[in-house]
Parts: sequence; structure tokens; C-alpha cells
Amino acid sequence: MKERTLSIIKPDAVEKNKIGAILSKFEDAGLRVVAAKRLHLTSEQAGAFYAVHKERPFYGSLCEFMTSGPVLVSVLEGENAIARNRELMGATDPAKAADGTIRKLYATNIERNAVHGSDAPETARVEIGFFFNGLELPPME
Ligand code: CMP
Repeated sequence: MKERTLSIIKPDAVEKNKIGAILSKFEDAGLRVVAAKRLHLTSEQAGAFYAVHKERPFYGSLCEFMTSGPVLVSVLEGENAIARNRELMGATDPAKAADGTIRKLYATNIERNAVHGSDAPETARVEIGFFFNGLELPPME
């Protein structure tokens, strides 16, 4: 089924100049970048985006990391885009990520893990709407 998912290339990977390398991974796997922008998140924006993790011990540090430099947010479209993106990213903890995955290649640790991807259709809808308005999103092809 054709889907859309939200991707964030996090400050650690942007700092390593890996935006192009990571977008190429998506494209080589058949996903299409249908919207994208580079942003420097405020604490309020990072806190709101990760509100589901508010009670976790790592929340404060995660928000600090996510505001430490620019990010590249994008919408990926393709067959099973949500699962496909998650396969490409690899496990949250790069120490557990499979060889060749984005996190294995570019992440530093479980927090500075290079990329974020939506985990389910409803999350994808909410996360895409968090960063992109209707005018910025072309209709599904
Ligand atoms: P992400 O997929 O963006 O979703 C939540 C983020 O919280 C995750 O990637 C990591 O950046 C971070 N995270 C998850 N688990 C931990 C943890 N145990 N310690 C620190 N950060 C974490």
C-alpha cells in the first residue's frame, strides 16, 4: 500500500554532512522525497514533537540534543513507506542496528541516533501535520 512517513535527519547526522547520503538511501530503496525543509527547532517545538516521551528519563536530554543544531525534516512516499523507512534506519540503539542501516553507519549512541521515522500510519499523519501544511504537500501520486 502506498504510504507517507515523516523522516527527521537529526542534528548529529546534519553536523556530519550526511543529509545527501541519507536521502540517497531512501531514494535507492524506492522511496520518494515529496517534501523537505531544513530547520533549527526551538525547545518548545522539540518538546511538543516528543511529548509522548515526556515522562521518560531521557526527555530533557533528547530535547536538548534535538535543538543543538539544524535538522532536515522530510516526507517520504512509497509502497509500505513506514516499515521500509524503519528497516533502512535500523534499531533505535546503533549498537543493535544491522550492518548497512543508517543508524549503524551514522549514529553515535541511542540518543544521538541520526534519524527519526514515524512508527505507524496514525503517528505518520500527526507527525507530517506537525511540520508541513497542506500547501507544502503534493497530492499522493
Ligand atoms: P526516535 O526514533 O526519534 O524516538 C525517540 C528518541 O528518543 C529516539 O529516537 C532516541 O533519539 C531517543 N531515545 C530513545 N531511547 C533512549 C534512551 N534509552 N536513552 C536516550 N535516548 C533515547
